[in-house]
Amino acid sequence: MVGIKDVARRAGVSIGTVSNVVNRPHVVSAATRTRVLSVIEELGYVRDESARQLRAGHSRIMALLVLDLGNPFFVDVAHGAEEAAHGEGLNVITCNSRQRVDTESSYLSMLAEQRVRGVLLSPVGTTGEALQSFRRSGIPYVFVDRKAPSAEASSVSVDDVAGGGLAMRHLLETGHTRIAFVNGPAILTQCRERETGVRSALAGSGAELSILETAALDVPSGRDAGARLLGVSPRPTAVFCANDLLALGVLQAMVGAGVRVPEDMAIVGYDDIEFAGAAAVPLTSVRQPAKRLGRTAAELLIAETGGDNGDPVEHQAVVFTPELVVRDSTRIRR
Ligand code: RIB
Repeated sequence: MVGIKDVARRAGVSIGTVSNVVNRPHVVSAATRTRVLSVIEELGYVRDESARQLRAGHSRIMALLVLDLGNPFFVDVAHGAEEAAHGEGLNVITCNSRQRVDTESSYLSMLAEQRVRGVLLSPVGTTGEALQSFRRSGIPYVFVDRKAPSAEASSVSVDDVAGGGLAMRHLLETGHTRIAFVNGPAILTQCRERETGVRSALAGSGAELSILETAALDVPSGRDAGARLLGVSPRPTAVFCANDLLALGVLQAMVGAGVRVPEDMAIVGYDDIEFAGAAAVPLTSVRQPAKRLGRTAAELLIAETGGDNGDPVEHQAVVFTPELVVRDSTRIRR
């Protein structure tokens, strides 16, 4: 690896001059700058940015560790985080845990070693050893899309209990009395909270509820749940899915089996990703302000890491209210 010393020696200048050519070229004469740049080119020297940022005491890298980068919801979260980060001269690296605790753990170890500025975290589990050891690194983190399990960190999330209730009340109000809920893995807080909302909205309604749990919140799991749903007897007339990817999979299974949506099976999703509205039968969905979630979480992290005065940080729990977007997958066309 070519270092700054090799460049200085070959160009016949001090290490400080090479550093100035790279970082403050205006303080170096044109002739010296030309000579040093040609040696940099010749030797293929690359500045060790992470070492420089560490010496500066503050990395310019913010990390976003999400559950599933294949889910457009998290892409929207990332866009929001980048907007806030770029405004402060920071860069965002996005890491994908693929809903696996071991992958999440190795990412958290790498981010601690790299001494990033901070981490926006949509975790698979919040009590595991991974987060405990990450806390010991002292690097600030903010939960995104999830409340913090304690006062340990700030969080930005949506009221998922209210969101589950919105979906179920909509199906009850449109006359359904046999309803299914296709949920993701119970290890995910947001799945447990959406189910809480489902159950509280259903209490006292007299409607029947079938719950199907999937191994992941993705389209293939939705297709599988849809196939299982077709076998339930008597079959429900409506289904609420814990996110839009599951709902798109269920929609695919229904259309493939010749089941009309919404006439024979009404479908509600969650997140309101772009594909929800663009689906063959546009999906009714509980909208999460994904971009705003990402931007707000990044702003909180910047506020918690920007100051050097060492004052204790007041963590915040920002909770947004979800809204129901009604489309053809639950609206009976007269
Ligand atoms: O992928 C995980 C899900 O949880 C997303 O669809 C979003 O709803 C998040 O809250």
